[in-house]
Amino acid sequence: MFKLPEIPTSIFSKMSKLSTENNALNLSQGFPDFDVSPQLIELIGKVSKDDVHQYCPMPGLPDLLEQTSSLVNQSYGRTLNPQTEILITAGATQGIFTTIQALVSSGDEVLILDPSYDCYGMPIVLSQGVPIRIPLSDTFLPDWKRIRESITDKTRLIITNNPHNPSGRIWTHEDMYALSQLLDENKNLYHLSDEVYEHITFDQPHLSANLYLGLHTKTIIVSSFGKSFHITGWKIGYVVAPEEIMNELKKVHQYLVFTVNSLSQHVLSKYLKTQNVKDLGGFYKKKRDLFIKGMEKSKFNLLPCEGSYFQLATYEAISDDTDVAFCEKLVTEFKIAAIPISVFSEKQDRRKIVRFCFAKENQTLEKATRLLCKI
Ligand SMILES: Cc1ncc(COP(=O)(O)O)c(C=O)c1O
Repeated sequence: MFKLPEIPTSIFSKMSKLSTENNALNLSQGFPDFDVSPQLIELIGKVSKDDVHQYCPMPGLPDLLEQTSSLVNQSYGRTLNPQTEILITAGATQGIFTTIQALVSSGDEVLILDPSYDCYGMPIVLSQGVPIRIPLSDTFLPDWKRIRESITDKTRLIITNNPHNPSGRIWTHEDMYALSQLLDENKNLYHLSDEVYEHITFDQPHLSANLYLGLHTKTIIVSSFGKSFHITGWKIGYVVAPEEIMNELKKVHQYLVFTVNSLSQHVLSKYLKTQNVKDLGGFYKKKRDLFIKGMEKSKFNLLPCEGSYFQLATYEAISDDTDVAFCEKLVTEFKIAAIPISVFSEKQDRRKIVRFCFAKENQTLEKATRLLCKI
Protein backbone atom coordinates (compact mmCIF):
# COMPACT_ATOMS: atom_id res chain seq x y z
CA MET A 1 0.00 0.00 0.00
CA PHE A 2 2.81 2.40 0.83
CA LYS A 3 5.42 3.25 -1.76
CA LEU A 4 8.75 3.05 0.00
CA PRO A 5 10.32 0.01 1.61
CA GLU A 6 10.89 0.23 5.33
CA ILE A 7 13.74 2.63 5.84
CA PRO A 8 15.69 2.59 9.11
CA THR A 9 16.71 5.85 10.83
CA SER A 10 19.65 7.25 8.92
CA ILE A 11 23.10 6.67 10.36
CA PHE A 12 23.60 10.46 10.37
CA SER A 13 20.67 11.01 12.76
CA LYS A 14 21.67 7.96 14.79
CA MET A 15 25.27 9.08 15.23
CA SER A 16 24.34 12.70 16.01
CA LYS A 17 21.89 11.44 18.66
CA LEU A 18 24.51 9.09 20.16
CA SER A 19 26.98 11.96 20.08
CA THR A 20 24.66 14.19 22.14
CA GLU A 21 23.75 11.39 24.56
CA ASN A 22 27.41 10.59 25.15
CA ASN A 23 28.56 14.18 25.28
CA ALA A 24 30.94 13.37 22.44
CA LEU A 25 32.62 15.52 19.79
CA ASN A 26 30.48 15.22 16.70
CA LEU A 27 32.65 14.60 13.63
CA SER A 28 29.89 12.52 12.05
CA GLN A 29 27.29 14.60 10.22
CA GLY A 30 28.56 16.97 7.52
CA PHE A 31 27.88 20.42 8.88
CA PRO A 32 30.12 23.16 10.29
CA ASP A 33 30.10 23.90 14.03
CA PHE A 34 31.53 27.41 13.62
CA ASP A 35 29.66 30.70 13.33
CA VAL A 36 28.40 31.91 9.96
CA SER A 37 29.86 35.14 8.62
CA PRO A 38 28.79 38.23 10.65
CA GLN A 39 28.20 39.98 7.32
CA LEU A 40 25.55 37.41 6.48
CA ILE A 41 23.85 37.85 9.86
CA GLU A 42 23.84 41.61 9.37
CA LEU A 43 22.33 41.20 5.91
CA ILE A 44 19.50 39.04 7.27
CA GLY A 45 18.58 41.85 9.68
CA LYS A 46 18.75 44.53 7.01
CA VAL A 47 17.06 42.63 4.19
CA SER A 48 14.25 41.35 6.41
CA LYS A 49 13.01 44.94 6.83
CA ASP A 50 12.41 45.20 3.08
CA ASP A 51 9.58 43.89 0.98
CA VAL A 52 11.01 40.37 0.70
CA HIS A 53 8.42 38.19 2.37
CA GLN A 54 6.20 37.08 -0.48
CA TYR A 55 6.74 34.42 -3.17
CA CYS A 56 9.73 34.86 -5.46
CA PRO A 57 9.33 33.94 -9.14
CA MET A 58 9.10 30.17 -9.63
CA PRO A 59 12.66 29.49 -10.95
CA GLY A 60 14.27 31.88 -8.46
CA LEU A 61 14.78 35.54 -7.64
CA PRO A 62 16.11 37.13 -10.87
CA ASP A 63 18.98 38.78 -9.01
CA LEU A 64 20.02 35.48 -7.42
CA LEU A 65 19.83 33.74 -10.81
CA GLU A 66 22.14 36.49 -12.17
CA GLN A 67 24.56 36.13 -9.27
CA THR A 68 24.60 32.34 -9.63
CA SER A 69 25.33 32.70 -13.31
CA SER A 70 28.26 35.06 -12.48
CA LEU A 71 29.51 32.58 -9.88
CA VAL A 72 29.57 29.78 -12.45
CA ASN A 73 31.22 32.10 -14.97
CA GLN A 74 33.93 33.23 -12.53
CA SER A 75 34.55 29.67 -11.38
CA TYR A 76 34.57 27.86 -14.73
CA GLY A 77 34.32 30.44 -17.53
CA ARG A 78 30.95 29.03 -18.63
CA THR A 79 28.32 31.52 -19.79
CA LEU A 80 24.81 30.57 -18.74
CA ASN A 81 21.49 32.16 -19.46
CA PRO A 82 20.19 32.91 -15.94
CA GLN A 83 16.57 32.84 -17.10
CA THR A 84 16.63 29.53 -18.90
CA GLU A 85 19.53 27.45 -17.54
CA ILE A 86 19.49 27.95 -13.75
CA LEU A 87 16.99 26.93 -11.09
CA ILE A 88 17.16 27.83 -7.39
CA THR A 89 16.23 24.80 -5.28
CA ALA A 90 15.61 23.93 -1.63
CA GLY A 91 19.11 22.52 -1.26
CA ALA A 92 20.89 20.17 -3.63
CA THR A 93 18.58 17.45 -2.30
CA GLN A 94 15.57 19.00 -4.01
CA GLY A 95 17.60 19.52 -7.19
CA ILE A 96 18.44 15.82 -7.19
CA PHE A 97 14.86 14.75 -6.49
CA THR A 98 13.49 17.10 -9.14
CA THR A 99 15.94 15.86 -11.76
CA ILE A 100 15.19 12.21 -11.10
CA GLN A 101 11.45 12.83 -11.06
CA ALA A 102 11.65 14.69 -14.38
CA LEU A 103 13.88 12.22 -16.21
CA VAL A 104 13.27 8.75 -14.82
CA SER A 105 10.20 6.73 -15.81
CA SER A 106 8.99 3.29 -14.81
CA GLY A 107 11.64 0.63 -15.53
CA ASP A 108 14.43 3.10 -16.34
CA GLU A 109 17.79 2.18 -14.88
CA VAL A 110 19.91 4.71 -13.02
CA LEU A 111 23.59 4.11 -12.29
CA ILE A 112 24.79 5.04 -8.80
CA LEU A 113 28.48 4.75 -7.98
CA ASP A 114 28.95 3.30 -4.48
CA PRO A 115 29.89 4.36 -1.88
CA SER A 116 27.44 7.18 -2.46
CA TYR A 117 25.50 9.86 -0.60
CA ASP A 118 22.14 8.57 0.56
CA CYS A 119 19.69 10.77 -1.33
CA TYR A 120 19.88 9.17 -4.78
CA GLY A 121 18.25 5.75 -4.35
CA MET A 122 14.80 6.53 -2.95
CA PRO A 123 13.83 9.21 -5.48
CA ILE A 124 14.60 6.62 -8.17
CA VAL A 125 12.36 4.07 -6.46
CA LEU A 126 9.59 6.70 -6.17
CA SER A 127 9.86 7.24 -9.93
CA GLN A 128 9.53 3.45 -10.37
CA GLY A 129 13.03 3.39 -11.76
CA VAL A 130 15.70 0.84 -10.90
CA PRO A 131 18.85 1.92 -9.04
CA ILE A 132 21.87 0.01 -10.35
CA ARG A 133 24.71 0.15 -7.86
CA ILE A 134 28.24 0.01 -9.24
CA PRO A 135 31.22 -0.01 -6.89
CA LEU A 136 33.88 2.66 -7.36
CA SER A 137 37.45 1.36 -7.54
CA ASP A 138 39.38 0.59 -4.32
CA THR A 139 40.68 4.16 -4.45
CA PHE A 140 37.15 5.58 -4.82
CA LEU A 141 37.47 6.62 -8.46
CA PRO A 142 35.16 5.46 -11.27
CA ASP A 143 35.75 2.00 -12.67
CA TRP A 144 34.93 2.68 -16.33
CA LYS A 145 35.00 -0.96 -17.37
CA ARG A 146 32.35 -1.85 -14.80
CA ILE A 147 30.31 1.23 -15.66
CA ARG A 148 30.36 0.43 -19.37
CA GLU A 149 29.37 -3.17 -18.72
CA SER A 150 26.36 -1.99 -16.70
CA ILE A 151 24.83 0.10 -19.48
CA THR A 152 21.72 -1.41 -21.07
CA ASP A 153 19.12 0.04 -23.41
CA LYS A 154 17.16 0.99 -20.29
CA THR A 155 19.93 3.08 -18.71
CA ARG A 156 18.62 6.61 -18.45
CA LEU A 157 20.85 8.40 -15.99
CA ILE A 158 24.26 8.16 -14.36
CA ILE A 159 24.71 10.00 -11.08
CA THR A 160 28.20 11.19 -10.19
CA ASN A 161 29.48 13.02 -7.14
CA ASN A 162 32.71 14.99 -7.42
CA PRO A 163 34.34 16.05 -5.03
CA HIS A 164 33.19 12.86 -3.43
CA ASN A 165 31.37 12.22 -0.20
CA PRO A 166 32.49 10.12 1.71
CA SER A 167 35.99 9.68 0.24
CA GLY A 168 37.13 13.23 -0.53
CA ARG A 169 38.54 12.07 -3.89
CA ILE A 170 38.24 14.27 -6.97
CA TRP A 171 37.97 13.11 -10.56
CA THR A 172 40.76 13.38 -13.15
CA HIS A 173 40.60 14.81 -16.70
CA GLU A 174 40.66 11.22 -17.96
CA ASP A 175 37.55 10.44 -15.92
CA MET A 176 35.75 13.47 -17.29
CA TYR A 177 36.65 12.49 -20.88
CA ALA A 178 35.53 8.91 -20.28
CA LEU A 179 32.22 10.27 -19.03
CA SER A 180 31.81 12.55 -22.08
CA GLN A 181 32.47 9.58 -24.33
CA LEU A 182 29.94 7.45 -22.49
CA LEU A 183 27.24 10.10 -22.91
CA ASP A 184 28.16 10.51 -26.53
CA GLU A 185 27.87 6.80 -27.25
CA ASN A 186 24.57 6.30 -25.41
CA LYS A 187 21.90 8.54 -26.85
CA ASN A 188 19.33 7.93 -24.06
CA LEU A 189 21.80 8.45 -21.25
CA TYR A 190 21.85 11.66 -19.17
CA HIS A 191 24.17 12.72 -16.37
CA LEU A 192 23.33 14.12 -12.95
CA SER A 193 26.45 15.71 -11.51
CA ASP A 194 26.33 16.29 -7.76
CA GLU A 195 28.92 19.00 -7.14
CA VAL A 196 27.91 20.28 -3.72
CA TYR A 197 31.57 20.43 -2.62
CA GLU A 198 32.63 22.18 -5.85
CA HIS A 199 34.49 24.98 -4.05
CA ILE A 200 36.19 22.76 -1.48
CA THR A 201 39.31 21.31 -3.10
CA PHE A 202 42.86 21.57 -1.82
CA ASP A 203 45.83 20.81 -4.01
CA GLN A 204 44.20 20.36 -7.43
CA PRO A 205 41.25 22.23 -8.91
CA HIS A 206 37.80 20.68 -9.03
CA LEU A 207 36.94 19.47 -12.54
CA SER A 208 33.33 20.55 -12.85
CA ALA A 209 31.04 19.30 -15.60
CA ASN A 210 30.73 23.04 -16.37
CA LEU A 211 34.26 22.89 -17.81
CA TYR A 212 33.50 20.24 -20.45
CA LEU A 213 31.60 21.31 -23.53
CA GLY A 214 31.06 17.65 -24.34
CA LEU A 215 29.03 17.25 -21.16
CA HIS A 216 26.86 20.37 -21.29
CA THR A 217 23.98 19.16 -23.44
CA LYS A 218 23.25 16.06 -21.36
CA THR A 219 24.30 17.09 -17.87
CA ILE A 220 22.31 18.45 -14.95
CA ILE A 221 24.57 19.94 -12.27
CA VAL A 222 23.41 20.39 -8.69
CA SER A 223 25.17 22.44 -6.06
CA SER A 224 24.55 23.76 -2.57
CA PHE A 225 24.91 27.27 -1.16
CA GLY A 226 24.64 25.51 2.20
CA LYS A 227 28.04 23.88 1.67
CA SER A 228 29.72 26.90 0.09
CA PHE A 229 28.66 29.47 2.71
CA HIS A 230 28.49 27.34 5.90
CA ILE A 231 24.69 27.56 6.04
CA THR A 232 23.57 23.95 5.58
CA GLY A 233 20.39 24.63 7.58
CA TRP A 234 19.15 27.15 5.04
CA LYS A 235 18.63 24.34 2.53
CA ILE A 236 19.24 26.37 -0.59
CA GLY A 237 21.11 25.38 -3.72
CA TYR A 238 20.94 25.56 -7.47
CA VAL A 239 20.69 23.46 -10.59
CA VAL A 240 22.31 24.13 -13.97
CA ALA A 241 20.91 22.41 -17.05
CA PRO A 242 20.44 23.11 -20.75
CA GLU A 243 17.15 24.87 -21.49
CA GLU A 244 15.40 21.86 -22.97
CA ILE A 245 16.03 19.76 -19.85
CA MET A 246 15.51 22.72 -17.53
CA ASN A 247 12.00 23.18 -18.87
CA GLU A 248 11.22 19.64 -17.72
CA LEU A 249 12.81 20.22 -14.31
CA LYS A 250 10.76 23.39 -13.86
CA LYS A 251 7.55 21.45 -14.40
CA VAL A 252 8.41 19.25 -11.40
CA HIS A 253 9.79 22.12 -9.33
CA GLN A 254 6.58 24.06 -9.83
CA TYR A 255 4.53 21.35 -8.12
CA LEU A 256 7.12 20.29 -5.58
CA VAL A 257 7.96 23.64 -3.94
CA PHE A 258 6.91 26.20 -6.58
CA THR A 259 9.61 28.56 -5.27
CA VAL A 260 12.27 28.59 -2.59
CA ASN A 261 12.24 30.56 0.71
CA SER A 262 12.25 34.26 -0.24
CA LEU A 263 14.34 35.66 2.60
CA SER A 264 17.27 33.32 1.86
CA GLN A 265 17.10 34.18 -1.82
CA HIS A 266 17.16 37.93 -1.19
CA VAL A 267 19.95 37.69 1.37
CA LEU A 268 22.10 35.39 -0.78
CA SER A 269 21.67 37.50 -3.90
CA LYS A 270 23.26 40.40 -1.97
CA TYR A 271 25.82 38.27 -0.16
CA LEU A 272 27.09 36.62 -3.35
CA LYS A 273 28.12 40.03 -4.71
CA THR A 274 30.67 40.34 -1.92
CA GLN A 275 31.95 36.76 -1.81
CA ASN A 276 34.95 35.06 -3.27
CA VAL A 277 34.49 31.31 -3.10
CA LYS A 278 38.12 30.91 -4.18
CA ASP A 279 39.08 31.30 -0.50
CA LEU A 280 36.99 28.34 0.58
CA GLY A 281 39.46 25.62 -0.47
CA GLY A 282 42.27 27.35 1.48
CA PHE A 283 40.01 27.75 4.52
CA TYR A 284 39.19 24.03 4.64
CA LYS A 285 42.71 22.96 3.65
CA LYS A 286 43.98 24.45 6.92
CA LYS A 287 41.39 22.40 8.79
CA ARG A 288 42.24 19.23 6.88
CA ASP A 289 45.94 19.75 7.60
CA LEU A 290 45.30 20.44 11.27
CA PHE A 291 43.36 17.17 11.45
CA ILE A 292 46.10 15.24 9.59
CA LYS A 293 48.82 16.70 11.83
CA GLY A 294 46.83 15.92 14.95
CA MET A 295 46.43 12.32 13.81
CA GLU A 296 50.15 11.76 13.07
CA LYS A 297 50.72 9.76 16.24
CA SER A 298 47.45 7.84 16.08
CA LYS A 299 47.03 4.23 14.98
CA PHE A 300 44.57 5.29 12.28
CA ASN A 301 45.81 5.40 8.70
CA LEU A 302 44.44 8.42 6.82
CA LEU A 303 43.47 8.01 3.16
CA PRO A 304 44.06 10.73 0.51
CA CYS A 305 41.62 13.62 0.84
CA GLU A 306 41.60 16.02 -2.13
CA GLY A 307 38.28 17.80 -1.60
CA SER A 308 35.03 17.99 0.43
CA TYR A 309 35.27 18.27 4.21
CA PHE A 310 35.56 14.58 4.95
CA GLN A 311 38.60 12.55 5.90
CA LEU A 312 38.57 8.75 5.69
CA ALA A 313 40.69 6.68 8.05
CA THR A 314 41.30 2.96 8.32
CA TYR A 315 41.39 1.44 11.81
CA GLU A 316 42.80 -2.00 10.92
CA ALA A 317 45.64 -1.52 13.40
CA ILE A 318 43.16 -0.88 16.22
CA SER A 319 40.26 -3.29 15.95
CA ASP A 320 38.68 -6.19 14.06
CA ASP A 321 35.18 -4.81 14.65
CA THR A 322 32.89 -4.00 11.74
CA ASP A 323 32.88 -0.28 10.95
CA VAL A 324 29.39 0.11 12.45
CA ALA A 325 30.41 -1.58 15.74
CA PHE A 326 33.64 0.40 15.77
CA CYS A 327 31.79 3.72 15.39
CA GLU A 328 29.44 2.76 18.21
CA LYS A 329 32.44 2.08 20.44
CA LEU A 330 34.13 5.28 19.27
CA VAL A 331 31.21 7.40 20.37
CA THR A 332 30.34 5.62 23.62
CA GLU A 333 33.84 4.84 24.93
CA PHE A 334 36.06 7.44 23.28
CA LYS A 335 33.54 10.29 22.88
CA ILE A 336 34.06 10.86 19.16
CA ALA A 337 31.23 10.47 16.65
CA ALA A 338 32.20 9.32 13.14
CA ILE A 339 30.39 7.60 10.26
CA PRO A 340 31.08 3.99 9.15
CA ILE A 341 31.57 3.97 5.38
CA SER A 342 29.71 0.71 4.81
CA VAL A 343 26.43 2.66 5.08
CA PHE A 344 27.22 4.42 1.80
CA SER A 345 27.07 1.21 -0.21
CA GLU A 346 24.35 -1.25 -1.03
CA LYS A 347 26.69 -4.24 -1.18
CA GLN A 348 28.43 -5.07 2.03
CA ASP A 349 31.62 -3.10 2.32
CA ARG A 350 33.85 -4.91 4.79
CA ARG A 351 36.68 -2.41 4.69
CA LYS A 352 37.58 -1.07 8.10
CA ILE A 353 37.13 2.59 7.27
CA VAL A 354 35.39 5.46 9.06
CA ARG A 355 34.63 9.01 7.94
CA PHE A 356 35.45 12.08 10.00
CA CYS A 357 34.03 15.53 9.17
CA PHE A 358 36.61 18.28 9.66
CA ALA A 359 34.24 21.23 9.08
CA LYS A 360 34.71 22.06 12.74
CA GLU A 361 36.29 24.72 14.95
CA ASN A 362 40.08 24.25 15.24
CA GLN A 363 39.65 23.69 18.96
CA THR A 364 37.17 20.87 18.29
CA LEU A 365 39.62 19.28 15.83
CA GLU A 366 42.54 19.56 18.26
CA LYS A 367 40.52 18.05 21.08
CA ALA A 368 39.20 15.28 18.83
CA THR A 369 42.60 14.30 17.47
CA ARG A 370 44.05 14.21 21.01
CA LEU A 371 41.31 11.74 21.97
CA LEU A 372 41.76 9.70 18.77
CA CYS A 373 45.51 9.40 19.41
CA LYS A 374 44.82 7.71 22.72
CA ILE A 375 43.04 4.79 21.03
C1 LIG B 1 27.15 14.58 -1.81
C2 LIG B 1 26.03 15.37 -1.26
N1 LIG B 1 25.02 15.70 -2.08
C3 LIG B 1 23.97 16.43 -1.65
C4 LIG B 1 23.90 16.87 -0.34
C5 LIG B 1 22.70 17.66 0.09
O1 LIG B 1 22.93 19.04 0.01
P1 LIG B 1 21.82 20.06 0.54
O2 LIG B 1 21.96 20.16 2.02
O3 LIG B 1 22.13 21.35 -0.16
O4 LIG B 1 20.51 19.52 0.15
C6 LIG B 1 24.93 16.53 0.55
C7 LIG B 1 24.87 16.96 1.96
O5 LIG B 1 25.57 16.46 2.82
C8 LIG B 1 26.03 15.78 0.07
O6 LIG B 1 27.04 15.43 0.87
